[in-house]
Amino acid sequence: MQVVTTPEELALLPSQQSRAVVMTMGALHAGHGSLMEVARREVGSEGLVLVTIFVNPLQFGANEDFDRYPRTIDADLDLCRSMGVDVVFVPEREAIYPDGVSVTVDPGPLGDILEGAERVGHFRGVLTVVAKLLNLTRANVAVFGEKDYQQLTLIAQMARDLVLPVRIVAGPTIRESDGLAMSSRNRFLSTEQRAAAAGVFRALNQAAHVAPQGPEAMRKAGLEELGDATVDYFTVTSTNLGPVIAGEQGRILVAVNIGDVRLIDNIAVAKVGS
Ligand code: PAF
Repeated sequence: MQVVTTPEELALLPSQQSRAVVMTMGALHAGHGSLMEVARREVGSEGLVLVTIFVNPLQFGANEDFDRYPRTIDADLDLCRSMGVDVVFVPEREAIYPDGVSVTVDPGPLGDILEGAERVGHFRGVLTVVAKLLNLTRANVAVFGEKDYQQLTLIAQMARDLVLPVRIVAGPTIRESDGLAMSSRNRFLSTEQRAAAAGVFRALNQAAHVAPQGPEAMRKAGLEELGDATVDYFTVTSTNLGPVIAGEQGRILVAVNIGDVRLIDNIAVAKVGS
C-alpha cells in the first residue's frame, strides 16, 4: 500500500487503471471498511482502490467540532492495509486549498434543508472538497455511505448536473449489534449515552412500522420512541429528499443530539401511506 500526501505523487499513479475512491475524514471504522469492499468489487483485482483521509475544514461551522474531530492516522492506515487498499491520499490543508477558498460548489436548494438547515454552509464545503478530490484522484467510481443520505444524494446530483466523469455508488449503512449506525463520532458517547443512542434506530423502525398510516403517524411514532432526546429533525421524504409521494418508496431521516454528540441516521421505507 502506498501512502501519498501531494497531488504530484497522485499524478504519478498509472493512468490506465480503473479507479475507485472512498473519501473519508479518517477515524475509520468497519463502516468505512465496507465501503472499501464495495470499491474493490467495483474495479476488480486489476483496478486501483484509493482512500482519501482529510478532515475538511470547509464543511465545519465555526461552532462545530473540527478541532476535536478524532484523528487516528496509524489505526486508519492499518485498516486500509487490511482491506487491501492500494493507495491512501493524506493531504495537508495546503494541498487541497493552496490559494485559500474562493470558488466553491453551490449545492442548490437541497443543500439548505435537513443537515443544511442545521449546519449552514456544510454541503458547500462537502461538495467543494469532493469535487477537488475527484479531480485529484481521477477516480471513475466513488463510493459513499447511505448513512449520510443527504450527502450521498447531493454528491450524486452534483455528478449528474456537472456531468462529472464518475459513477457514484452507494454503500449500505453498517450497524452495531443494537442497530446504532457506525460513526466516527460514536466514540464520544459515554456508556449511558451509548445505550440511549440505540434508540435512534429503534425510532426509525417504529416509524417504518406504521408507514401505511402516512408520514404524520410515522413522525409521531418515531418521536415517541426518542422520548426526551433533543431532536433536530425527524422527517419522512421521497427517496430524493422531496415531499413524500403516497404509495411510493420513501426515506426516514433523523438527527438527534445526545449530550454534545450529534447523531444522524436514516432508513428506506418500501411504501409510505397517505
Ligand atoms: O463523509 C465524509 O466523511 C465527508 O463528508 C467527506 C465525503 C469525506 C468529505 O469531506
